[in-house]
Amino acid sequence: MNLTQGDKVVLVGTGAVGSSYAYALINQGICEELVLVDINEAKTKADAMDLNHGLVYAPIPQKIKYGSYSDCKDAAIVVICAGAAQKPGETRLDLVSKNLAIFKSIVGSIMDSGFNGIFLVASNPVDILAYATWKYSGLPKERVIGSGTILDSARFRFLLGEEFGVAPTSVHAYIIGEHGDSELPVWSTANISGKLIASDLTDQRKDEIFVQVRDAAYEIIESKGATYYGIAMGLARITKAILRNEEVVLPVGSLLEGEYGHSDVYVGVPTIINRGGRKSIVELSLNPEEKEKLANSVKTLKDVQSPFWK
Ligand code: NAI
Ligand code: LAC
Repeated sequence: MNLTQGDKVVLVGTGAVGSSYAYALINQGICEELVLVDINEAKTKADAMDLNHGLVYAPIPQKIKYGSYSDCKDAAIVVICAGAAQKPGETRLDLVSKNLAIFKSIVGSIMDSGFNGIFLVASNPVDILAYATWKYSGLPKERVIGSGTILDSARFRFLLGEEFGVAPTSVHAYIIGEHGDSELPVWSTANISGKLIASDLTDQRKDEIFVQVRDAAYEIIESKGATYYGIAMGLARITKAILRNEEVVLPVGSLLEGEYGHSDVYVGVPTIINRGGRKSIVELSLNPEEKEKLANSVKTLKDVQSPFWK
């Protein structure tokens, strides 16, 4: 279980994703205290000032400040949104060397503070950086969570909601695997209030919808330079699930240790989230095609990740 008390969150990396996450957190009244950390001190101090100027309209009293890694000591959760982002035409995996180096430094500084809470990792390639955070920190797997396919599954549920004329919250469908080009849709269990929906769509339409999900980031990055609102709301959802000890299932990045037949890799899978972080993984009944695609996604990640851990 998470050994720290109180609802203090430290955010490392207050760029497009981090500042959007902070804004979502404050507006939803999810935590009692939010500390912002970034190498860009001036901008981050200004972010703290700017957010404090909205507190009078926030749903609950909250403390927001610019801080340092020493503030991680008694944090319940440290969220990492720091690092390089994709440029147009770049894949998430192209960021691996640059961001692994940044993470080695950041995670070391956080652990030096005496941090004993839960890591939530968003920076890309998020599955490889979540694995690296687990390795660098030495914390138990339950307390190192990646954002996984929380955003991909949200994109999938939104598009299916549009397709079937129903609220996305009533569409229960998962994207699993790499948060990236090798991710896969679990059509076999996709449902609306328990009614399976795959058979209501042609194979062509299923492919069209999945490609829109998989390639959404490239389209948004090409047009506005980065994606940040969707992931920020997904990170806020995970944060709330932890702090409220919800025991809710969310498609976050979890370390596999035999689940789905794979080990030693972080991938997006349905996971029960509580105050201790990851409680347990939910193993969907995948059909043979889905099993094969998940194996490919795991291989894609391990082929990139393994050389860094030889
Ligand atoms: P950004 O460039 O706007 O912000 C990055 C921030 O990290 C900057 O404020 C920078 O000063 C800070 N930073 C860089 N090195 C640092 C260090 N050593 N210590 C502390 N702070 C440092 O980038 P953006 O758009 O916010 O993206 C951040 C990351 O999130 C990227 O890796 C991006 O690919 C990823 N991302 C992940 C998503 C997901 O679904 N997991 C979705 C969207 C973005
Ligand atoms: C996304 C990328 C940036 O928005 O990870 O999915």
